[in-house]
Amino acid sequence: MRIGILTGGGDAPGLNAVIRAAAKTLFAHGAEVLGFKDGYRGVIEQDWIPIDKPAISGLLHRGGTILGTNNRDNPFHYPIVTEEGEKEYRDVSDVLLQNMHDLKLDCLIAIGGDGTLSIARELVAKGACIVGVPKTIDNDLAATDRTFGFDTAVTTATEALDKLHTTAESHHRVMVLEVMGRYAGWIALWSGIAGGADVILIPEIPWDLDKVVAKIRARREEGKMFSIIVVAEGTPDPAGKRVVRETIKDSGDPVRLGGIGQVVGNLIEKATGIETRVTVLGHIQRGGSPTSYDRVLATRFGVAAAELAIKKKAGYMVALRGLMITAVPIAQAIKRPSHVPPNGQLVQAARSIGISFGD
Ligand code: F6P
Repeated sequence: MRIGILTGGGDAPGLNAVIRAAAKTLFAHGAEVLGFKDGYRGVIEQDWIPIDKPAISGLLHRGGTILGTNNRDNPFHYPIVTEEGEKEYRDVSDVLLQNMHDLKLDCLIAIGGDGTLSIARELVAKGACIVGVPKTIDNDLAATDRTFGFDTAVTTATEALDKLHTTAESHHRVMVLEVMGRYAGWIALWSGIAGGADVILIPEIPWDLDKVVAKIRARREEGKMFSIIVVAEGTPDPAGKRVVRETIKDSGDPVRLGGIGQVVGNLIEKATGIETRVTVLGHIQRGGSPTSYDRVLATRFGVAAAELAIKKKAGYMVALRGLMITAVPIAQAIKRPSHVPPNGQLVQAARSIGISFGD
């Protein structure tokens, strides 16, 4: 058997651990493994490396992906530079399918988020054998309770909050931390609880500046002269407008969120007169070694994906349901994003210990 592996979309800690576990499982079944470079681009351009035992040595704790990744490689809308030097977009999905056939690939394991998995589903509809592994630090994919990379991002954000606490206390300041998460508030909610935030602002719960200010004032009346606020990047401003950092034309998901932290910080400083500082954590959340939780989840996903590929379960994706790894149709995972339930247990627990959501 010959099985391919690719990593697509934004990276997440644990990608290498998936590659390692999938390869080890495939070797045990006597399969040959090909690693395609930079997502679907590697299949379209036949740019691949053999994944053998030396290739996966020392991978478990390594962040990033040895295969490289990109989020501008949609085979149905693929950038081509013409002879005249012009950039054009073409549907090269048939080239990809032909290359899979020429390389005698029995199946391809696509590790990615909603973009990579949506493309996988379209290619499966055209006859390709592709199985999926859900990946994103945002944890916003439906059909799986957890994506690997999320725990590492939350751990990084929590460490940042621990550090912000000490300096906030010394200077009697309000500290705002903007975290990633796209349109979901999972990273903000988990790190906010773990890092002892006083206010957590997430896209799922509309907020009001007066409520945030009241929380900060109430703390000062209790003698707590500093406050810590976590804001998810996808949280709209009080007028309901999302703050966009930039728009990337070529990307399947062109909107890059960012800047709401500064908006919140400015509003608080103006309303309270309390010195306020803003930190944007950015891509640090995506880098570095995966946590032990993410290494284990990535390993379990890699093993299960290899088994799906061997069985040629085209169009299926591995998922975590409760404590069990299972397989679900990719279509289920991409049909809608997973959001924080505003009245869910986690939000309720946070409210019970006095965390304000600004509502
Ligand atoms: O989806 C992962 C993520 O890190 C989001 O949290 C963030 O909004 C986005 O990707 C950033 O994308 P880029 O790496 O293209 O700036």
